[in-house]
Amino acid sequence: MSLTHTRDLFAKALKGKYAIGAFNVNNMELVQAIVEACEEEKAPVMLQISKGARSYANPVYLRKLVEAAVNVSTTPIAIHLDHGDSFELCKECIDEGFTSVMIDASHEPFEKNIDLCRLVVEYAHRHNCVVEGELGHLVGAQFDEGEAGGGYSTAGHYTHPEQAVAFVRRSGVDSLAVAIGNSHGAYKFKGEQHLDLDRLKAIKQSLLKAGLGDYPLVLHGASSVPTDLVEEINKYGGKLGADAAGVPEADIEVARRVGCIKVNIDTDLRLAMTAGVRKTLAENPKEFDPRKILGPARAMVKELVRHKVRDVLGCAGHAFD
Ligand code: G3H
Ligand code: 13P
Ligand code: ZN
Repeated sequence: MSLTHTRDLFAKALKGKYAIGAFNVNNMELVQAIVEACEEEKAPVMLQISKGARSYANPVYLRKLVEAAVNVSTTPIAIHLDHGDSFELCKECIDEGFTSVMIDASHEPFEKNIDLCRLVVEYAHRHNCVVEGELGHLVGAQFDEGEAGGGYSTAGHYTHPEQAVAFVRRSGVDSLAVAIGNSHGAYKFKGEQHLDLDRLKAIKQSLLKAGLGDYPLVLHGASSVPTDLVEEINKYGGKLGADAAGVPEADIEVARRVGCIKVNIDTDLRLAMTAGVRKTLAENPKEFDPRKILGPARAMVKELVRHKVRDVLGCAGHAFD
């Protein structure tokens, strides 16, 4: 097998109305757990690598781990740069053969965000790579003044439906990460868990009406922070706060039906890995073989990924469509 292009995964996901899990990887156990789970569930998958993962593991190790996964697996696998923060980093990954990169200039003013995306798109498209951009800020459920109840402000944190059209047209990005109340990490919401799914529908509709077709949207911060994992971690000595909270799985399902065909998950993998390590060490204090410590943790990540692709993302069984 060789890598499958992100463009092909997206085209099939749009047609089949399911989402691809984009799982963050930074070591061998994570790559193995995700790919084995997807192999068993016959699910296409994106392995995504952040700048931090590259400096932790070394880009060559990570690229080779993905290559190994592609060699031992039959399921379609794409490789993606997560939250690229500069043209130079995106170029490095494009030159290494990544099938897609994200250029995240969402913290910049609108025009500068467009300019940086445009620069990456021009290089990427000449080198058979597609680009994800982001518009809006991933601040969690934090409406700005005048935004609650369907009000859309261009000054707010959330993605504005009309501005999304201008952004996509002018930047040329191939997919768009939206801000609809989502955020990264294990503490996503103060109070009620909530994504602005009406806004997501409005964004999708605006893109469609503008002639941009069934345009691929991306949901970052899509971990659900499962209570059983949080409890397991705390049972074995962890100290996660009672306010740990993620996106309800039902919301992810709606989001993917509306058009978020790439769903980013990292925190839940971290929680599963940590729960596994803590449990083994607490129950076997004499253990010091890393394989006996990381092996059960890897199995927990695998179970989690199987559940995601089968029960939440709807991509299980679609590997060979
Ligand atoms: O959204 C960011 C991902 O969870 C990657 O996190 O930058 O700590 O590797 P990281
Ligand atoms: P979580 O850490 O909330 O799963 O988000 C992952 C992500 O968005 C990676 O880009
Ligand atoms: Zn993200």
